[in-house]
Amino acid sequence: MCGVVGYVGRRPVLDILVKGLKRLEYRGYDSAGVAYFDSDKLKVEKSEGKLVNVEKLLAGIAPKGLQLGIGHTRWATHGKPTTQNAHPHRTGHVVLVHNGIIENYLEIKADLKKKGYEPASETDSELFGFLVLDKMKSGKKLVESVRESFKLLHGFCSVVVMSEQEPGKFVAVRNGTPLVAAVDPQGGAFLASDAQALLEYTKEMIFLEDGDVLVGDESGIHISTLASTKDAGRKAVTLNWSADKMDKQGFEHYMLKEIMEQPMTMVDTLNSLLDRARTDPFPLAEQPGVEVLRSAKEFILAACGTSWHASLLGKYWLERWGGVPANIEYSSELRYRDPVLRAGAVLIGTSQSGETADTLAIIKEMRKRGVPTVSITNVRGSTISRESNYGFFTSAGPEFSVAATKSFLAQALVFFLWAGHLGLRRSKDIASQVQVIFDQLIKLPHLLESMLKPDGVMVRACEEAAKKFQNAKGFFFIGRGYSFPIALEGALKLKEVAYVHSEGYAAGELKHGPIAMIDKEMVTIVLVPQDSLYEKTVSNLQELKARGSKIIGIGNAGDEKVKKDCDVWIPIPVKSADKDFDESLYPFLLVPAVQLFSYYMAKLKGTDVDQPRNLAKSVTVE
Ligand code: M6R
Repeated sequence: MCGVVGYVGRRPVLDILVKGLKRLEYRGYDSAGVAYFDSDKLKVEKSEGKLVNVEKLLAGIAPKGLQLGIGHTRWATHGKPTTQNAHPHRTGHVVLVHNGIIENYLEIKADLKKKGYEPASETDSELFGFLVLDKMKSGKKLVESVRESFKLLHGFCSVVVMSEQEPGKFVAVRNGTPLVAAVDPQGGAFLASDAQALLEYTKEMIFLEDGDVLVGDESGIHISTLASTKDAGRKAVTLNWSADKMDKQGFEHYMLKEIMEQPMTMVDTLNSLLDRARTDPFPLAEQPGVEVLRSAKEFILAACGTSWHASLLGKYWLERWGGVPANIEYSSELRYRDPVLRAGAVLIGTSQSGETADTLAIIKEMRKRGVPTVSITNVRGSTISRESNYGFFTSAGPEFSVAATKSFLAQALVFFLWAGHLGLRRSKDIASQVQVIFDQLIKLPHLLESMLKPDGVMVRACEEAAKKFQNAKGFFFIGRGYSFPIALEGALKLKEVAYVHSEGYAAGELKHGPIAMIDKEMVTIVLVPQDSLYEKTVSNLQELKARGSKIIGIGNAGDEKVKKDCDVWIPIPVKSADKDFDESLYPFLLVPAVQLFSYYMAKLKGTDVDQPRNLAKSVTVE
């Protein structure tokens, strides 16, 4: 959850730390800080609140000598978001940053107190500095002290440590929370909790593995393990993300930029997963894991949040086209259950970040139990992609807004491609249906593009809906069939970025309780494309309208019948007369509408759109 950056070399260290932390601020942002060497003396600057407060403290400072430092943005777990609790923590000549949780911190604290050490903060993190200090007092070197201290910790975390007694290096250990390192082509080493912080310097990244111990110094990177001081033999991988994708490029917020990027996300993801030289529909490029999908007898789909919603769509498609049972599970629940596993089951773990602790845990557990594991992530080299037997990637590019948008669309697309591919093998009838759908699918990026024109009718309608109902008491998002996962996703988006109470429901479920909440101050967003459940959804819309709910309808362009019953109508670019458009594709066109509506609501409410309160992009604690 926290962001970590480190640098040693000849470039101006404070620039690198601050720039890197800016790239990571989306991960956690309740306080920030840096520690750096100035002529072999350690200095620390930190502050509660956003990184900008630290930037102010650093104004005009230009450290002398070897450029060496570490930085941190925090997502508080132990102790309030105060300056005192902010990282780096200094303990004598030792300074450290930490990401994750030390589960046995109370025990460690009690032991340290017995030895006369008095922590200054409420954090678990600070204790690690005392452990290192204590070992160094007994004559041990920094690396050895860090290695031995780390072995005393329970729980998942990573640390980066420097000492004034051994200037010239930082030492890092990874266990469960991500760390990526890179050699500075100009001499020296970079370190970060996320590759995005380093992309403007190099694309050659080394993703540390659990138990890796890294020393970064002027000569580069040296990686051993907790178990052995021998070289761990880690190899660099080349990332295909470009640094220019990391700027807002004129958009007011990353969230808006990322919503608007979805046509390209679709093209990039199609290109990366399909073998377009082949002419059969759904020509999934052969890669490890495809065969496992083909022979699966059952899918277990595990994920959290937005990735769970993409997986729910996956369930619908895999069952309809693939004809394979697919059970959807919250990773946080499944990991503590004792599920009945049938022969031929395959676990699919979906995670944009590739670092979500609960999804990672269930992947490890299922592997242990002999279930083949397949992941869908957006980050090459991420822990989940490495821990699963087979990793598939979305090509959404870096996503900075904490609210996931384009990554959702890309995840959904991966499921769609798999389902279509499996459908081809089922029967002649399904194969010919799938052929038609594939032809429609590859045209979708154009439709999306037309729909997402900044001054287009759909975008303007989303903005108008937000303006009209910005003060509503609450929102329901409802839909049936393929629209149901989008209803859930719409409600989550609105809560996340606009802090407005909203709930997603299967349209048919509303009358089983929640309809009691409907009155004229409530708004229902009805996803009502002309699919096979259209008439039923229209009836649900009428029931709500009759009870006073205001209605925002999202459906086919030209659907005058439903439009006249809505207070605001948001059209998607499939004409109501177009009866051939396959209903399984509607989610790709509905989701930008609920994303944009939430975005405009957030803007009107004046929230921090890209970094909403209490959230973090990468949830590496349970
Ligand atoms: O990185 P992941 O996809 O595993 O993250 C899962 C959820 O934490 C994430 O989708 C969360 O719900 C987002 N903030 C959604 O916008």
